[in-house]
Amino acid sequence: SYAPVPAKEDFLGCLMKEIPARLLYAKSSPDYPTVLAQTIRNSRWSTPQNVQPLYIITPTNASHIQSAVVCGRRHSVRLRVRSGGHDYEGLSYRSEKPEKFAVVDLNKMRAVVVDGYARTAWVESGAQLGELYYAIAKNSPVLAFPAGVCPSIGVGGNFAGGGFGMLLRKYGIAAENVIDVKVVDPDGKLLDKSSMSADHFWAVRGGGGESFGIVVSWQVKLLPVPPTVTVFKIPKTVQQGAVDLVNKWQLVGPALPGDLMIRVIAAGNTATFEALYLGTCKTLLPLMSSKFPELGMNPYHCNEMPWIKSVPFIHLGKEAGLDDLLNRNNTFKPFAEYKSDYVLQPFPKPVWEQIFGWLAKPGAGIMIMDPYGATISATPEAATPFPHRQGVLFNIQYVNYWFAEAAGGPPLQWSKDMYNFMEPYVSKNPRQAYANYRDIDLGRNEVVNDISTYSSGKVWGEKYFKGNFQRLAITKGKVDPQDYFRNEQSIPPLVEKY
Ligand code: FDA
Repeated sequence: SYAPVPAKEDFLGCLMKEIPARLLYAKSSPDYPTVLAQTIRNSRWSTPQNVQPLYIITPTNASHIQSAVVCGRRHSVRLRVRSGGHDYEGLSYRSEKPEKFAVVDLNKMRAVVVDGYARTAWVESGAQLGELYYAIAKNSPVLAFPAGVCPSIGVGGNFAGGGFGMLLRKYGIAAENVIDVKVVDPDGKLLDKSSMSADHFWAVRGGGGESFGIVVSWQVKLLPVPPTVTVFKIPKTVQQGAVDLVNKWQLVGPALPGDLMIRVIAAGNTATFEALYLGTCKTLLPLMSSKFPELGMNPYHCNEMPWIKSVPFIHLGKEAGLDDLLNRNNTFKPFAEYKSDYVLQPFPKPVWEQIFGWLAKPGAGIMIMDPYGATISATPEAATPFPHRQGVLFNIQYVNYWFAEAAGGPPLQWSKDMYNFMEPYVSKNPRQAYANYRDIDLGRNEVVNDISTYSSGKVWGEKYFKGNFQRLAITKGKVDPQDYFRNEQSIPPLVEKY
């Protein structure tokens, strides 16, 4: 019923009947390069070798998105959706192989409507996390939401793939605190929780972006925080005992009460212990001296503030302010490579020593380690597609940046070698990874008869979703059996067996 129509003007003509021309950018339009580049965060995907969209559509309401889907299907143009553009592999705006596609860029749809009495908010996908946090705090200083650390991340991609930050031990992931959604499905219908299947509603909250339709907006539960929280950042070099400290932290961090999150950023010869405590310095001090006295935390380390101020403080440092939450023109756009791991067994101490050896090598990146336990680990694995729950001690993210295209050799090699070195010490069968830390090296879909195959998807899919992958694929088979919404790592439809 969607016969291919070769002339691309037909797709554009179809769009122009429903969407104002000023919201459409063809490759030939003068503003196209700026609009495309606006939210590209990884400069590796800006270069001309990348397959770019034929059109960029910047809707201002849900009906524009519905029209884009209807026109795309009629004229065999695929759609990739971009909210904040932070995808590590750039799959929201580039294709690895030649493909006729348009980008639906939601950066003009970023309203946040907070209902302080009901303790809920509706947020559009194109808002950045900082805008959501800011709107919540403006309404109430004692409400918050548990999503990513970096304020410029898009709500759309972050919630779709899980979403966690400094509140993960207290409140889990963003997706599990979503109570309703508005989604445009592959037929161009606008659905919400009451009109979509239970499996579809389950899948959009953590099953990864793109696969299950275009999420227009999300209704979230707002969660209580005290009027004053405490932040500390304590750096320790190897000479100052970093190895013994991380060796102790890997057991203590995941076992602390949910009110205290201490993550570790290991870079060069230094481990920095960064904490958010939902309470005052006065109650934090005795907790630290009973659970983790080795760190030597004292009153001088305490920075007390309202929760909202802790967000830029943790992300950017003491000098950062609330403006940084709303800044949509972040110019930090390095070339970047990322990988992730989950750790279920504590590392033997010599492994920590070797890790600091790796962090001192040429081309070395850094490691960000988030402890689990408390709420994030208490939720059953099947409750949402995000499966990294009971038994996880901590998540590792390996981050590597460089600043000139030609300088990628050593960092890319380091990332590969480091990932290989870590294999014996991290989760196995499958080696788990976090869907929002997208890594194309874990696998790519093969497309046969115009449908992504289940067997190729399983290779990377079980790493992100473990036992939930099959249910995601069956759901995809019901929601989008023709695999219209797809990319190199979208959930393939499983239709033949259930
Ligand atoms: P982007 O727009 O690139 O989309 C990502 C994916 O979701 C794409 O496949 C896209 O098609 C799809 N998608 C986007 N909008 C959609 C919509 N409305 N409906 C359906 N599909 C949609 N994560 C985390 O959990 N905690 C953290 O602290 C951090 N920190 C962090 C820092 C930095 C600097 C970066 C670059 C990234 C992170 N992340 C993170 C990872 C981040 O959560 C992940 O990249 C998200 O997918 C980004 O969402 P965006 O909307 O910005 O990406």
